[in-house]
Amino acid sequence: MNDSPKPQPFSAPKGVPDYVPPASPEFLTVRETFTRQTRLAGYEHIELPVFEETGLFARGVGESTDVVSKEMYTFEDRGGRSVTLRPEGTAGVMRAVIEHNLDRGQLPVKLSYAGPFFRYERPQAGRYRQLQQVGVEAVGVDDPALDAETVALADRCFRSIGLTGFRLEMTSLGDGACRPAYRRKLQEFLLGLPLDEATRERAELNPLRVLDDKRPEVQEMTADAPLMPDHLCPDCRGHFETVTGLLDDMGVTYTLAPRLVRGLDYYTRTCFEFVHDGLGAQSGIGGGGRYDGLMAQLGGQELSGIGFGLGVDRALLALQAEKIRVSDGSRVAVYGVAMGAAARRRMAVEIDRLRVAGISADMSFGARGLKGAMKGADRAGARFALVLGDRELESGMVAVKDLAAHEQIDVPLAELVTHLQGRLSA
Ligand code: HAM
Repeated sequence: MNDSPKPQPFSAPKGVPDYVPPASPEFLTVRETFTRQTRLAGYEHIELPVFEETGLFARGVGESTDVVSKEMYTFEDRGGRSVTLRPEGTAGVMRAVIEHNLDRGQLPVKLSYAGPFFRYERPQAGRYRQLQQVGVEAVGVDDPALDAETVALADRCFRSIGLTGFRLEMTSLGDGACRPAYRRKLQEFLLGLPLDEATRERAELNPLRVLDDKRPEVQEMTADAPLMPDHLCPDCRGHFETVTGLLDDMGVTYTLAPRLVRGLDYYTRTCFEFVHDGLGAQSGIGGGGRYDGLMAQLGGQELSGIGFGLGVDRALLALQAEKIRVSDGSRVAVYGVAMGAAARRRMAVEIDRLRVAGISADMSFGARGLKGAMKGADRAGARFALVLGDRELESGMVAVKDLAAHEQIDVPLAELVTHLQGRLSA
């Protein structure tokens, strides 16, 4: 007898969601629908490494951001190099564009990606340490029409999964010509307020971040703070007016959010966030903006860029909040139930033929009774069950049962594939 204690099962790491059935098909549908929308807008897939040299994020995302200073999964690999699990996608895309000279061809370079990102945040509902995004980056053309297209595409992604309870907030963060002067003005204003020590430090390091402080007393104190949109240079103002004008033409609704601050340092000019009202504190379902200095900062050409990242985890929570299902709960279209050894052998061959013909199919395994096997067909969400016994097999027929209509007909085994193809496409 083995009297060693029974091993304890493991749990997923803290703050890391698993997506298992029946939630996983919803996850996949959201990610695939977003990705399909980016394809429709001419974006090509880029598959990025999940970890990169640490310096890429420090330089690309910004040392003063929470993401870089507090949330990175950084470790030394066995060769003594400092590497970091990617906290976001933009810096990695820029690194790849520069490394593979993609910016030397037709511009803009339009790339889309999907996958996990890692941030050591305090886990709570909708805030995970492994988060999933679908993102795009368009590099190399400073055209406000590209900003409008990017924003409209993100909006289309959310609408294409059926979401309606969200808002789009937009602003312009200015550029190298107007932001430094505005920043000084804001800093002067903030340093004249009776702020606590930590907030004062933030005002010195990154004054815009103070505008995003959610504490009511800070919001009250900063109610009259100077705001970027009132201090844009004529170029940035014109750029932003063109972007919003185009969005008006496309029928994309937005609200102007002059205090909008994003958690990453690379943004310039157009900046936007999608906020869902059914999600509580973690309401940002996606966001992005223009990042005109980033390529050069990472050692590439002076090229502009714009993109977004959509939160797949949060889009799923938003679907739940709006009580929308995006997958039909069906695992396969056809489910085989065979009684008797010869019938089971033949069923395996027929099921395989259906798959070759592009019809999703599964069958009951193990020696189960008819009732138990039919339950399997229900659980699989199949439209048709195929019932085959040794007697039917001798006569060359199989019973095709329509599980919704509760009708059954006998079909010659030789015609099964064409029969089902016809009925499934009807
Ligand atoms: P971000 O706003 O940091 O932007 O992330 C984009 C989206 O990812 C957020 O709106 C949110 O839905 C989701 N997200 C972020 N953190 C978490 C988390 N801890 N748990 C669950 N979901 C999360 C970026 O990452 C930029 N790279 C987007 C971009 C692309 N800007 C320009 N190009």
